[in-house]
Amino acid sequence: MSQLEEITGGDKDGVWEILSSSGYSDKAINYFLNKANMGSLADADQVTELTGVCGDTMKIYLKFEDSRIKDAKIQVLGCPGAVSSAMAAMDLIKGMSVEEAMAVQDRDIFRMLEEIPDQKQHCIRLTIKTLQKALEEYKIKREGNTGC
Ligand code: FES
Repeated sequence: MSQLEEITGGDKDGVWEILSSSGYSDKAINYFLNKANMGSLADADQVTELTGVCGDTMKIYLKFEDSRIKDAKIQVLGCPGAVSSAMAAMDLIKGMSVEEAMAVQDRDIFRMLEEIPDQKQHCIRLTIKTLQKALEEYKIKREGNTGC
């Protein structure tokens, strides 16, 4: 049984219908069901975990090359809002510099998702906070390595 079948009980259409009627756009549902950026990177330069006040947890893996984010994956223990926003964020930041990724805001992720329920906006916040924590930690490490 695939991971998706385990989560959805194999009833992808049923899950789609529930999320759609709850206010998720097709794009957000696709992110949730396909989970393209879910996982870890064995050779990550930065690994950072954060648990939100709701209890949901994200663990982000960033790989850098020439001062840019070459690859990004994330593990999410959380709701559809958390999963879809985390997947979208990883798509968005690939190719960005640390500074560019630091400037990513909730509205940038919301724009990518097109629509999620109002009560799920805080899930985007958790994604952004996890990303910013990872970038801060990476910056401190990088500055430490250059002896500045
Ligand atoms: Fe916690 Fe969605 S309910 S991130």
